[in-house]
Amino acid sequence: MLYGDGVPLADVAARFGTPLYAYSAAAIAARYAEVDQAFAGYPHTLHYALKANSTLAVARLVRRLGAAADANSSGEIEVALRAGFTPGEIVFTGVGKSDAELERAIDLGLRSINAESEGEIERIDAIAAGRGVRARVAVRVNPDIDARSHPHISTGRKDTKFGVAIADARAMALRMRDRAGVQIVGLHSHVGSQITRLEPLQHAAEALVALSDELRGAGVGIEHLDIGGGLGIPYEGQRVPSAAEYAAAVLPILRPTGLPLILEPGRYLVGQAGVLITRVVDVKPQAGGKLFVIVDAGMTDLMRPMLYGAYHRIEPIVCSGASDALVDLVGPVCETTDTLGKDRRLPTPAVGDLMAVFDAGAYGAVMASNYNRRPMPAEVLIEHGQATLVRRRQTIDDLVAQEL
Ligand code: LLP
Repeated sequence: MLYGDGVPLADVAARFGTPLYAYSAAAIAARYAEVDQAFAGYPHTLHYALKANSTLAVARLVRRLGAAADANSSGEIEVALRAGFTPGEIVFTGVGKSDAELERAIDLGLRSINAESEGEIERIDAIAAGRGVRARVAVRVNPDIDARSHPHISTGRKDTKFGVAIADARAMALRMRDRAGVQIVGLHSHVGSQITRLEPLQHAAEALVALSDELRGAGVGIEHLDIGGGLGIPYEGQRVPSAAEYAAAVLPILRPTGLPLILEPGRYLVGQAGVLITRVVDVKPQAGGKLFVIVDAGMTDLMRPMLYGAYHRIEPIVCSGASDALVDLVGPVCETTDTLGKDRRLPTPAVGDLMAVFDAGAYGAVMASNYNRRPMPAEVLIEHGQATLVRRRQTIDDLVAQEL
């Protein structure tokens, strides 16, 4: 039987229904401590990337552990505030910030708005100057580095929409000194997500250091370097760098600057702390002796396999002892892409069996949708041997509530 922090997941499923996300508080705490320890001895702040999982209970837990926050929209800023983060603990990243979002960020006085273009800096400048304040702005640079992750989540190459080219960033930062509404506080880069090699992260750090040296040489005050997130997890059991190896790889590059460091880890903190629990609703044969195992979770609950071809390990929650079968584990949504796991060897599942889809703590619930009018799943946080419902399952009334 599978347990989450000592609690049988079968009991959790029986109590709260399926599909259901279950998170381990202890696993998140252990990961937070691991990353924090890895950078101990150098001034740093972990700004947890809320986009990975912004359920309030998870955000509050990460804050209690000592983290600050990275928000990617005004929605995430409001969630961060409700979770108890102060404006000075929030960085606002992301391409395409609207004027309304910038106004809110400027009024709050966030630790940093990570600007992605000269146009964005102009808008920040105009809004802040109009209010008689100076907004704290970092420049997100695009170091033209291939993070060699999935192309959909690699963000550091010059042909992606993110950041400004190093050459342009230099001139832009110098021009910022003449703007009444902005104060440059930092340099930022984030070259991708689910990165499993250290070299791209080292190269990005080198690019940030070179630019900050140059700018400081020209008299531009820089308060921090923000090296983004991106550290991957072993979805397929592959070897991935640990936080300690990451720190050992980048700290020697960053240390000579003496500048405080911001990190924006998301997946590494919460990815492996969550499972998606789903129940088998049908089993049918397919050509070639394989089985279709149809479960009650699909692309509306966990989109990663369909969007990125991502692999998530799947195991039965209670092992039946049945002999193995080759199966495609599919969801109920009306699309062939709605496949959670293809060609998996599992003890032959029966209707009613429970399955755990592993490593679903990051970019799982946050990417859920209501396609096919499917209510979003419930979420449970397991802490101190107790499973607590932290987000109730949507109801059909919730689904039509905004319709006039
Ligand atoms: N900072 C910035 C500016 C980001 O864009 C991201 C992620 C992070 C930090 C956190 O990255 P992490 O440490 O989690 O790798 N939905 C995709 C992942 C998208 C990541 C977007 N940006 C997935 O399911 O794999």
